Amino acid sequence: MRVAVVGATGAVGSTILGVMRERAFAADEVVPFASDRSAGRTIDYGDRDLTVVALSDEAIAGFDLALFSAGSAISAEWAPKFADAGAVVVDNSSQWRMHDDVPLVVSEVNPDALDRHRGIVANPNCTTMQTVMALGPILQAAGIERVVMSSYQAVSGTGQRAVEELHRQAEAVIEAQELPAPTVYPHQIAFNVLPQVETFKDGDDYTTEERKCMRETSKILGRDDIGVSATCARVPVFTGHSVSANVQTRDPLSPDECRQLLGGAPGVTVIDDPANGLYPTALDAAGRDDVLVGRIRRDPSHERCLNLWIVGNNLRKGAATNAVQLAELLHVRGLLGAARA
Ligand SMILES: NC(=O)c1ccc[n+]([C@@H]2O[C@H](COP(=O)([O-])OP(=O)(O)OC[C@H]3O[C@@H](n4cnc5c(N)ncnc54)[C@H](OP(=O)(O)O)[C@@H]3O)[C@@H](O)[C@H]2O)c1
Repeated sequence: MRVAVVGATGAVGSTILGVMRERAFAADEVVPFASDRSAGRTIDYGDRDLTVVALSDEAIAGFDLALFSAGSAISAEWAPKFADAGAVVVDNSSQWRMHDDVPLVVSEVNPDALDRHRGIVANPNCTTMQTVMALGPILQAAGIERVVMSSYQAVSGTGQRAVEELHRQAEAVIEAQELPAPTVYPHQIAFNVLPQVETFKDGDDYTTEERKCMRETSKILGRDDIGVSATCARVPVFTGHSVSANVQTRDPLSPDECRQLLGGAPGVTVIDDPANGLYPTALDAAGRDDVLVGRIRRDPSHERCLNLWIVGNNLRKGAATNAVQLAELLHVRGLLGAARA
């Protein structure tokens, strides 16, 4: 199998390459693509060095699979070209997620949606991804009427430049130097919390990230009758998103039943012993693929509502790992190459 990794030098792309190596992904050849700036650079891929290539009509021929993480504009232009040239694209950007003929898939929650792909499969937004990992099993067991979620999102969710910005600002604050002007976020992120993730578009008072969380959750769960309300905040954490979710079920579900249910769910680990200081923190998600859930408790204001604290690694399960898992499923189910719909 020939695999293209588009955006291979970025935060997600480099994690995709790492996850492929860890999982011994069945690729005969891996070609990393990035911008002209990185073309010619070499990337260590375990037993071999890979040379970064710039995108061109000639260079994209002959791939079975293309894993994209180079932003929406690149996906808009190049994902259809890769698909036309015979590859199945798994795209991390938001470009294709809400298109009717593009499945939006979390490997443990709605893997059968892959069967309907027509050349492009979308990987959900990282905050949505970790939240539906917990919501999926609850929906199956007790139904869901409404979800109110608030996120506390790490800067690596914005990419490498944001990681560098937090480093620079934190150093300046600690060394009592003048702060460099923010270039990635609208305000200082070091030692601050910003109630804005992405942008406010067309006079909307929800951000684009909040809209994604609401729409993508409904699409993945296959239910547009579930009310979803989201508030997304950026926090000065390098990696690991946290979500506080208030979940109103259709049928009664006790905190203990929920703990048991999620404890048995694939890809989810319950850490929930608050009396002993045990609950998931963003740092706990470092290097991990499983989504961590704790603080499972009854909402005292509603007998069919539970509160959950959900932590996920935005670069791994929130992006790279799910993309590689989808690629594995496409391969195993014979949905690559000529077999595609
Ligand atoms: N970070 C996350 O947690 C996360 C989670 C889910 C989804 N996503 C999505 O994944 C995508 C990438 O995010 P990221 O955080 O990895 O961003 P990033 O660190 O800024 O990386 C961007 C990548 O795109 C490449 N690129 C830029 N312009 C290009 C061009 N003209 N042609 C080819 N490649 C080009 C860059 O190559 P150069 O190095 O050559 O500039 C780099 O490899 C975004 O759509 C983002 O929304 C990110």
